[in-house]
Amino acid sequence: MQLPVLPSPASSNKHSTASANTPLTDNYGRPITYLRLAVTDRCNLRCVYCMPENMRFLPTKELLTNEEMMRLVEVSAALGVRKVRLTGGEPFVRQGIMDLLWRISETKGIEEVHITTNGVLTAQYVPELKRMGIASVNLSMDSFDAGRFFELTRRNEFAAVQNSFEMLIESGIPLSVNAVVMEGNNTDDVIAMCEKTRTQNFTMRFIEEMPFNGGTHELPTIVWDYKKILASIQAAYPNLERVGRSNHATAELYRVPDYAGQIGIIAGFSRTFCGACNRIRITAKGTLKTCLYDNGVLDLKALLRSGASNEEVSTAIADCVQHRFRDGIEAERHTHTSAAFDSMSEIGG
Ligand code: GTP
Ligand code: 5AD
Ligand code: SF4
Repeated sequence: MQLPVLPSPASSNKHSTASANTPLTDNYGRPITYLRLAVTDRCNLRCVYCMPENMRFLPTKELLTNEEMMRLVEVSAALGVRKVRLTGGEPFVRQGIMDLLWRISETKGIEEVHITTNGVLTAQYVPELKRMGIASVNLSMDSFDAGRFFELTRRNEFAAVQNSFEMLIESGIPLSVNAVVMEGNNTDDVIAMCEKTRTQNFTMRFIEEMPFNGGTHELPTIVWDYKKILASIQAAYPNLERVGRSNHATAELYRVPDYAGQIGIIAGFSRTFCGACNRIRITAKGTLKTCLYDNGVLDLKALLRSGASNEEVSTAIADCVQHRFRDGIEAERHTHTSAAFDSMSEIGG
C-alpha cells in the first residue's frame, strides 16, 4: 500500500514531532489526538446502509491480534493520542474484547476510552464498563419501533438492543444513540426518537447516510442531508435551541427547552467538520486511514508482521499524518474512482 503522494500544501508542517505534552499535528496544523480502532469487521446485524445480507467477513488471521492492537495503541499514545474509540463491525462479537478495553484504558497517555456498539450483546457488559470508567457509549439504533428496526437491521434483535439502551441509561454512562436517516426508511421515526429525550438523558443523533455500504447501492448524493434533518426537527419543535459543537466533534447539538436529553446532527456525507478533524483510524484489517474517505494510507498489519520496531511504526504513522488530505471531499476525489465503497463494518465508521 502506498502513501498518498500529494503536493505539499502551503500550510505544511513537516517537522512536527510529538512529545509527552505536544501531540503530533498534521500538515494543516490539526492536532491528532483521537484514534478510532475497528476491532472486527464481523457483525450480528445486517443494517441495510452498511452491508449486504451475504456479507463476506475477513478470515481471523487477517484481523489484528490483541497484542498488535495494543502495540498500535501504545505507539499512538506516544504520538499524542489521548482518546480511543473502539468500533467494528460489532466490537462485542470479538472474543477478549473486555480484556482489550481494560488494557487500553490502563495505557499510559490514554485519557478516554469510548465504544460504538449495536447493543445486541452490550447489556451484560454495562456494569463492567461502568467500573472501568468508560467515557461514553454510542449505541446504533435507527428506530425505536420494533418492526422498522427489523426492516433496517434484517435481524430480530430489537428487544436485546432496547434492553442495552435501558441498562446504559440507568448506569449513568454518557450515552448517544446513532440513527442513520434514510429516505423511504426511518424518516417517519425522527420526531418519535427526539421525543425520547423529553424524559431520558441521552443524545439522540441523526446521521446523514454515507456511501460505505459494501457496494449494495450507489450514493452519489442524499435526500436527507443535515439541513433537511434539522428543518424537520425544527418544524416539530419551533423552540429548538442550538447548543453548538464540542471540540473536534462530528455532531452539531440542539435541545428542546426543558427536555432531559439533547439532539445531534452529524453531516457525515456533507462533511462540514473536517477543519477541526483530530482523528486517525485503523480498520479491521489493520490499515491506517487518515480520513474516513481515503482508501487507506498504510498497511500497519504488514508493517508489524514484517518485524518493524515501535520506532519504525511510529515514524511511518507520523509520516502519513504529514500527508493528510485537507478534507473528506478532497480525500474522496483523490481515492475513490468508482461507486464501490467498502462496508462501514470494515472501516469502523
Ligand atoms: P465521537 O465524536 O467520539 O462521539 O465520535 P463519533 O460520533 O464521530 O463516533 P460514532 O462511532 O458514533 O460515529 C457516528 C457517525 O459519525 C458514524 O456515521 C461515523 O461514520 C461518522 N463519523 C465518525 N467520524 C467521522 C469522520 O471523521 N468523518 C465523517 N465524515 N464521519 C465520521
Ligand atoms: N452511513 C452513515 N453511518 C453509517 N454507519 C454505518 N454505516 C453507515 C453509513 N453508510 C454508522 C453506524 C454506527 C456508526 C459507527 O456508523 O450506524 O452508528
Ligand atoms: Fe476527518 Fe475525513 Fe472525516 Fe473529514 S471526512 S472529519 S477529514 S476523517
